[in-house]
Amino acid sequence: MRRPVRIAVTGAAGAISYNLLFKIAAGEMMGKDQPVILQLIEIPDAMNALRGVAMELEDCAYPLLHTITLHDNVEEGFSNCHYALLVGARPRGPGMERRDLMEVNAEIFSRQGKALNDFANRDVKVLVTGNPANTNALIASRNAPDLSPSQFTCLTRLDHNRAKGMLASQCGVTARDIKNIVIWGNHSPTQYPDLHHATVFGQPAMGQIDTSWYRDEFIPRVQQRGSEIINARGLSSAASAAQAIVDQMNNWCLGTEPGEIVSMGILSDGSYGIQKGIFFSFPVRCNYGRYQIVQGLDVGEFSRQKLTATELELLEEKGVVESLLPEETEESHTN
Ligand code: NAI
Repeated sequence: MRRPVRIAVTGAAGAISYNLLFKIAAGEMMGKDQPVILQLIEIPDAMNALRGVAMELEDCAYPLLHTITLHDNVEEGFSNCHYALLVGARPRGPGMERRDLMEVNAEIFSRQGKALNDFANRDVKVLVTGNPANTNALIASRNAPDLSPSQFTCLTRLDHNRAKGMLASQCGVTARDIKNIVIWGNHSPTQYPDLHHATVFGQPAMGQIDTSWYRDEFIPRVQQRGSEIINARGLSSAASAAQAIVDQMNNWCLGTEPGEIVSMGILSDGSYGIQKGIFFSFPVRCNYGRYQIVQGLDVGEFSRQKLTATELELLEEKGVVESLLPEETEESHTN
């Protein structure tokens, strides 16, 4: 049996985690031969609910679940962790402006970045899900000067999977038959789901769909899918977000299929002309626990306008939290 790996999860009593933790314990994220230690973190008021989640995990008797520890602070909770899934975040309260929300979360993710810097395993891989995910990832990474920014990513795999599911349904195929969708930019309604490189059964997707459907229906629907689900369900996406976290971490740690492109929010290194210093969703391939941006994809005029719109939004978000960020350190772009 392999040595167990330590996986820290914040917001562990929340809705996404209630779907996520059971998948991790069942081996869906790290593989069916990898035992896991779950280090579950919540705010003090949610510790009782967290104990209930831990009881249920125990009651599943997962063969790969080595130990569960519960923490009401990130300094203990991140101790020696190999993976940190930052799911918890402050939701927007009544009367709260977007700027207030960003500032409150900036405090939370600054503390989490510092705690990762001081207490996590030196090779920790971090995935930020809590919104605004891209900017929270920037804040956490800037507060962890002893870790490489390439150890931080944010979740845009849900958008990628949503786009794949919608295209599959439109073409009457399954998601397995679709490859190489790209989500560019922010996990927000400005994101750009790009089908120009996608294939359906190995053939270019754009040759199999109407351009007007792509531009007028598909793109806005992927961009607004979160709201569509909230309107239908009365609650935000939780099971699909959990699946996306599993997929993104699984690809990062265990690799993507040969030749396959997936989307990940990572620190921009200037590829595709995107300004450095923001977390931006790029096309990547993963191998040996590292991701690499796929270079050389053609970006036409339509795509360029979309990339610029989402880039500008991320620069604006960065501007809101800039004064709260510590100095930038030297950057490295693969992990
Ligand atoms: P939820 O409200 O059900 O759970 C969040 C949990 O985080 C709560 O239990 C809360 O007590 C905890 N929490 C808050 N601050 C914390 C802190 N400082 N330390 C530890 N725990 C803390 O929310 P849900 O549905 O689980 O969503 C979590 C986050 O994920 C939200 O910010 C949501 O907007 C975001 N999200 C992001 C997606 C993406 O694709 N990037 C997709 C879906 C949701």
